[in-house]
Amino acid sequence: MEKVIVVNFGSQYAHLIARRVRERGVYAEVVHPEEAEKAAETPEVKAIILSGGPSSVYQEGAPDVSDGIFHLDKPILGICYGHQLIAKKLGGAVQRGKGEYGKTLVKLLERDLIFDGWSNEEVVWMSHEDYVKEPPPGFAVLAVSENGYIAAMRKGHIYGVQFHPEVSHTVKGGHLLENFLRKVANIASTWRPEEQIRRLVEDVRRKAAAGDVIIGVSGGIDSTVTALLVHMAVGERAHAIFVDHGLFREDEPQQVVSLLTSLGIKVHVVDARERFLKRLEGVSDCEEKRRIVGETFAEVFAEVVSKIPNAKYLAQGTLYPDVVESGAVKGADRIKSHHNVGGLPPWFKLELIEPLREFYKDEVRRIAKALGLPDEVVYRHPFPGPGLAVRIIGPFTREKLEIVRKATKIVEEELERSGLLRKVWQAFATVGDDKWVGVKGDRRSVGYIVTVRIVESEDAMTADWARLPYDVLERISARITSEIPQVSMVTYAITTKPPSTIEPC
Ligand code: XMP
Repeated sequence: MEKVIVVNFGSQYAHLIARRVRERGVYAEVVHPEEAEKAAETPEVKAIILSGGPSSVYQEGAPDVSDGIFHLDKPILGICYGHQLIAKKLGGAVQRGKGEYGKTLVKLLERDLIFDGWSNEEVVWMSHEDYVKEPPPGFAVLAVSENGYIAAMRKGHIYGVQFHPEVSHTVKGGHLLENFLRKVANIASTWRPEEQIRRLVEDVRRKAAAGDVIIGVSGGIDSTVTALLVHMAVGERAHAIFVDHGLFREDEPQQVVSLLTSLGIKVHVVDARERFLKRLEGVSDCEEKRRIVGETFAEVFAEVVSKIPNAKYLAQGTLYPDVVESGAVKGADRIKSHHNVGGLPPWFKLELIEPLREFYKDEVRRIAKALGLPDEVVYRHPFPGPGLAVRIIGPFTREKLEIVRKATKIVEEELERSGLLRKVWQAFATVGDDKWVGVKGDRRSVGYIVTVRIVESEDAMTADWARLPYDVLERISARITSEIPQVSMVTYAITTKPPSTIEPC
């Protein structure tokens, strides 16, 4: 299969670029700079994209690619840092400027094919301080920014752009990527995740030839799709395990189990609520809450697995960004160690099967839809592994847990009623220990403050609070204070991420 590699210079944008390429039907892989030349040499690779990054090209230890990459005669598109690196390596000059951030106007000097569909002036998204002062010999300047910086340059099929075509604020960014893929690199549109289902099922069948497969399910789309693929591959040898830690939303455990059962999947439900809640009681520190939930989960899970005599494999819904970030792909940066990758306790001797490891979330949604999963699963909001525990600020108590659970249900119901639930990324309630005096009937009462958090986001790396109609907020507040007697104030969280985070802790 034809593909594109995206060389990752340490920016979150590398994944965004790969997703944008895949959305256009072309398979893209994110690779570490040290691996770039070797990867680029393989015949399937039809084009190379050099990503942005936080470094400066002249800085000591700045990420680099070997020169060989420029002698492969394959189309190259450098973006931001990638554009500056092309300039430096091919004999141009890069310098620190006054910086351009956010929406910026660029003017085309030449009508190159990469700008097909663009007007002579367009708004793009910039985020840089360094700039290309001198293009390398033989390069033509194709566009300049309103501040006079080189915005695009080209020699043959090597292109550099200072702006970010992958972000939606670059109005015609999609056109540029499309032109690069089709007109410069001549790549056909062949990548359709939903057409990979048969291969994925065959892969699982081949890998899991000698025993039973265990899948930890949570109701989320990743574990549900994994369970279904495994079930399609090995039938009765698939065992889904659902650990009820008592930190789910209202009715969630019943819904998860009935869905999986209706798909013909055997589910072992473990009611471990007391074990989790007892250990969490009184714990304030969020990381400690996460640790307790993680450890208890592993313990409970292992107990169940030990009762399945032929258990030999563990299937997980690990996704592509986790694989790259955890360094599971050779040479990739170890940015953070994700709980799904390599995070298993050493005594857990099951062989890993990860059918979704080459897919992004939106691609898993396409697979889920093709498998006929209901929309509630396909468009379900992300829900943290430690559940409602991370939505309780300060000491964990059962009272606060019930408040958060009931309030979250109200938030979800009201959004659903106004047709907004699927338009937002996440929507929930949180509670801490601050109190607010209320008057209920004619009596003063001191009650909890519930903070509602509803955000829009594309990938949880950044998020914006949802500008909801006042009447929706009003109904949420009225219902929470009337249906949950211990609450006397509802607030709405209106800080973006960054500087805040989505969850309160
Ligand atoms: P933050 O709060 O860091 O959250 O902005 C980003 C995304 O990650 C989810 N999240 C978690 N998911 N275990 C998880 O599985 C966790 O401990 C955890 N903490 C945050 C959060 O819901 C959001 O989607």
